[in-house]
Amino acid sequence: MQLHRLVQLLFGMRPLDRFLTLGIESSCDDTSVAVLEGPRTILSWNISSQTERHAAFGGVVPEYASRMHLEAILPLTREALAEAGVSDPAKELSLIAVTRGPGLMGSLLVGVMTAKAFAQAWNVPIVGVNHLEGHIFANVVDHEDLKFPFLCMVVSGGHTEIVLARASGDYQMLGATQDDAAGEAFDKVAKVLGLPYPGGPVIDRLAKQGSASAFHFPAVLPNIEGLNFSFSGLKTAAINQINHLRQKGDVPVEDFCASFQAAVVRNLITRLEQAVEQTGVRNVAISGGVAANSAFRDAVASHPGWNAFLPSKMFCTDNAVMVAAAGYAAFMRGERSDISMGPDPALDFGEDEVI
Ligand code: KG4
Ligand code: ZN
Repeated sequence: MQLHRLVQLLFGMRPLDRFLTLGIESSCDDTSVAVLEGPRTILSWNISSQTERHAAFGGVVPEYASRMHLEAILPLTREALAEAGVSDPAKELSLIAVTRGPGLMGSLLVGVMTAKAFAQAWNVPIVGVNHLEGHIFANVVDHEDLKFPFLCMVVSGGHTEIVLARASGDYQMLGATQDDAAGEAFDKVAKVLGLPYPGGPVIDRLAKQGSASAFHFPAVLPNIEGLNFSFSGLKTAAINQINHLRQKGDVPVEDFCASFQAAVVRNLITRLEQAVEQTGVRNVAISGGVAANSAFRDAVASHPGWNAFLPSKMFCTDNAVMVAAAGYAAFMRGERSDISMGPDPALDFGEDEVI
């Protein structure tokens, strides 16, 4: 134990139960900083989204992303600490948790280097967090009643994975996408429809005024092994249909969005049903940007026989609260990182056992 911490504990300068984690997330295009007390009490959190900047390009431009992280990270940290009432981080913080990967190299680099600099300057322990474990912990923060084991589907612009979370730190990857992520399919189809980036929330909104049975999409999952996914076939089928409809006239956008969204949700729910059947685990959590999709949320929440756990929409997309929570859990099970930690854009996650 560091000397000043021992002194603090001995002289009661800091209550034993006040464990503050500074969380930092910068793996893609959101910079976010949070201060968490214990496993789930949020003292402060903020986020600087780069969506508008990237929208002009129809997707994330890595070079811009890292520059914008660099501009945002110190002001956001100052703000988060101030809002949490932390005036002397060296004395008051117990841990720094930072996303180490997977993600964009330049983006991760900003978060990891900043976190390491703080850890050195303040002499506070640091732990590197896997972004996927972070998404899983978005549910742990939001649901005190969520107990291991549970299934978690992480579904975002970069991920579509089903994980069996057996215990804190014990994860089994049951299935993953073989090509595009579900969010990527939403974004690409939206782009072809002429809708703004990111397309997922726009499709979600337009789908509310459309018919989910107006268009038919081929079933792709029977051709995909195990609990894996594929969205590139569905995406291509959708784009071909759009081009075909355009040759005949206009595309009924609301109906198209509703039907496409229903096809994506059908794929996600089918795999979750199979995962429940194969593992016998009925606690089902979702996470990631696509977990904000209303049709998907409704389908999970109303599924008979499941105990469904949905993170609030603000914690579906990338945020530092989930990173702080995952970092706290990792620290509690004895994990530590040090100054040699580097970002890892392709960081592995869980025991890879597709069933
Ligand atoms: O988790 P996230 O913020 O970043 C990544 O790690 O990718 O997820 C962003 C993705 C985008 O593809 C976006 O279109 C999708 O999540 N998304 C949605 C919705 N909100 C965000 N997709 C469908 N429906 C939504 N409501
Ligand atoms: Zn994410």
